[in-house]
Amino acid sequence: MAAPLLEVRDLNTCFSTYRGQLRAVDGVGLTIERGETLALVGESGCGKSVTALSIMRLIRRPGRIVRGEVLFAGEDLLRKSGGEMRRIRGGRIAMVFQDPLSTLNPTFSVENQIVESLRIHRVARGKEARERSVQLLEAMGIPAARERLRSYPHELSGGMRQRVMLAIAVSCEPELLIADEPTTALDVTLQAQILDLLGQIKEERGLATLLITHDLGIVSQFSDRAAVMYAGQVVEEAPVAELMEDPLHPYTAGLLRCVPRLGRPDVPIRPIEGSVPDMIALPPGCRFAPRCPEVMEHCREAVPPLYDRGGRRMVRCYIYRQRSFRQSGANPTGRPGAC
Ligand SMILES: Nc1ncnc2c1ncn2[C@@H]1O[C@H](COP(=O)(O)OP(=O)(O)O)[C@@H](O)[C@H]1O
Ligand code: SF4
Ligand SMILES: [Mg+2]
Repeated sequence: MAAPLLEVRDLNTCFSTYRGQLRAVDGVGLTIERGETLALVGESGCGKSVTALSIMRLIRRPGRIVRGEVLFAGEDLLRKSGGEMRRIRGGRIAMVFQDPLSTLNPTFSVENQIVESLRIHRVARGKEARERSVQLLEAMGIPAARERLRSYPHELSGGMRQRVMLAIAVSCEPELLIADEPTTALDVTLQAQILDLLGQIKEERGLATLLITHDLGIVSQFSDRAAVMYAGQVVEEAPVAELMEDPLHPYTAGLLRCVPRLGRPDVPIRPIEGSVPDMIALPPGCRFAPRCPEVMEHCREAVPPLYDRGGRRMVRCYIYRQRSFRQSGANPTGRPGAC
């Protein structure tokens, strides 16, 4: 079998804060095959963005990647030089964020920004780059694309900016797109349009995607598999349909109860009680224990390992200790990594 397009192994990223070391990403492992979409799900503060930024080597002080491997097409990105990473970013791996204004340069027109990206990555120059920019904007569903090229980011609506970001992201025909909460700032209609567009891009371009979201509701329409993160760790991973139908981890089940079920108006929406733990003073044992309706005595003693249930299903919960065949993956014991 060919190597996955992206394989993250035992990734650990810490921040030095005045209160102490914060382990934002703690032994995370993920794989994405070519053309596949993996959703990374979890409440705010669980370490999703730091995982994405670590993959792209965009962690700045006081943060640092302490340990791990980020194998992209078999090569470890954590060992690449700064120059090599700049070529990979925006080239073979593209990223879009929740807030396009944080990435788009306010002083450059849309045309300049797309053309610049095409030029840096040596895809096209001059007139060819301009024509290509028009085609890209049209492909992203932007009306009057030629005129739009002259616009500046602040002249565009939120939905249009997100489309321009996607146009820039796909301009260099990346193999992997990392989309960090790309629709969170948009209203429901625009959210659906942008997700449709992402689906279309995936189909047409065979793009693999890491879709980061706190909203399990949007995951099912768009992803093949999902990894659920809680307090810096992956607590469940599964093909999306199975995760939705039969969540194994009590946290995943809780997240699912927070979203309306399609065709099930009888199922009440219930938020998970409590909040994510303080990442500097994590509870001993299972990090979800203080909020878990199924908590058992020994849950509070040691972090549960990630159990491999077969069929690409993993779960970090003692409920499955007896029923599982083997432990798996990086950091199988669930012991916290050192900062
Ligand atoms: N620059 C930073 N300095 C200190 N702590 C940070 C920094 N960036 C993120 N964190 C912390 O890392 C944890 C994970 O954050 P993040 O990955 O942004 O969460 P998510 O994207 O899941 O909402 C949080 O506890 C957050 O406060
Ligand atoms: S290990 Fe225990 S506390 Fe943690 S999720 Fe499973 S049952 Fe709940
Ligand atoms: Mg985030």
